[in-house]
Amino acid sequence: MKIQNVAVIGTGILGTQIAIQAACHNYIVTVFDIDAASFGRVLERLKIRMQNSSRQPTIPWPQMKKGARRVKQCASLKEAVAGADLVIEAVPEDLALKRKVFKQLDILTPRKAILATNSSSIPVSRMEKATGRPEKCLNIHFYSLDQGRNIVDVMGGTRTLPGIIKTGKEWVQSIGCIPLTVKKEILGFCFNRIWRAIKREALYMWAGGYVDFRDVDRGWMNWSGMSPGPFGLMDGVGLDVVYDIEMVYYKESGDPKDRPPKALKAMINRGELGVKTGKGFYTYPDPEFRRPGFLKASS
Ligand SMILES: NC(=O)c1ccc[n+]([C@@H]2O[C@H](COP(=O)([O-])OP(=O)(O)OC[C@H]3O[C@@H](n4cnc5c(N)ncnc54)[C@H](O)[C@@H]3O)[C@@H](O)[C@H]2O)c1
Repeated sequence: MKIQNVAVIGTGILGTQIAIQAACHNYIVTVFDIDAASFGRVLERLKIRMQNSSRQPTIPWPQMKKGARRVKQCASLKEAVAGADLVIEAVPEDLALKRKVFKQLDILTPRKAILATNSSSIPVSRMEKATGRPEKCLNIHFYSLDQGRNIVDVMGGTRTLPGIIKTGKEWVQSIGCIPLTVKKEILGFCFNRIWRAIKREALYMWAGGYVDFRDVDRGWMNWSGMSPGPFGLMDGVGLDVVYDIEMVYYKESGDPKDRPPKALKAMINRGELGVKTGKGFYTYPDPEFRRPGFLKASS
């Protein structure tokens, strides 16, 4: 199957990046968001994120800006998906919402189209039944392309055809990314599950009062040579998004250790969502972990 037309549903921080990455690799890209201003707003945010980052994005800003102009913003879901070969939903991490979107996509999208979810934690097997085409449903999970993270987890559902997984992986490669294949369904996919284990321990140690979050980041940055550390990274993802993802794991296991800490919820209730609101664990645009001497300081 040849993919030419790609539709992205939900143009928040991830959907916007996926749409632009595809447009920059010559796909015809249409998008829809219930908030029509989202795409433009996120594009501005991406520019600032890239200016403030030491990492190289997958596509330099001038090209990204050009690519963004080629993304067609549609006034309805129907218009966005009418000619799609591949649809990727990137609406918030809420299973009921994703099921609703998958159901609508099944009605509005050509029968041949692949339906993919960018969910950070939910296997597509939980959404496939909302459609009449479970054999064409896929997890295609991106990371922050603006930070140069071009790995993509790819996982099928209970009935996904091998040919659909192959097409999905080839499409991922065709837009300059590296597919990480999950051979047997698991919550969190490939790399995201590893990152999640780090997040859970980091949050547990901070909320339990065992350590200062800065020391966790200091340790991580020193040991791995990567910047920022887990708390700086969570600020970048958005603490509300982190919370929702942790809740998916908790609902799955019922294990109290998987429950995101109340202290994290309290931050969200105060509007401390990370980079996007100017305050999370750190304050932005000048977080402590980027200041000289951070690595050698003591909490
Ligand atoms: N933030 C990250 O770093 C990250 C990384 C990988 C995957 N993800 C996943 O990608 C998905 C989106 O995350 P995000 O961080 O981009 O969220 P976000 O909150 O930035 O964006 C979600 C967008 O979806 C729109 N939306 C809500 N309901 C909709 C609907 N019914 N139809 C169309 N648009 C709708 C919202 O208006 C918003 O613009 C989630 O499943 C998340 O787990 C996020």
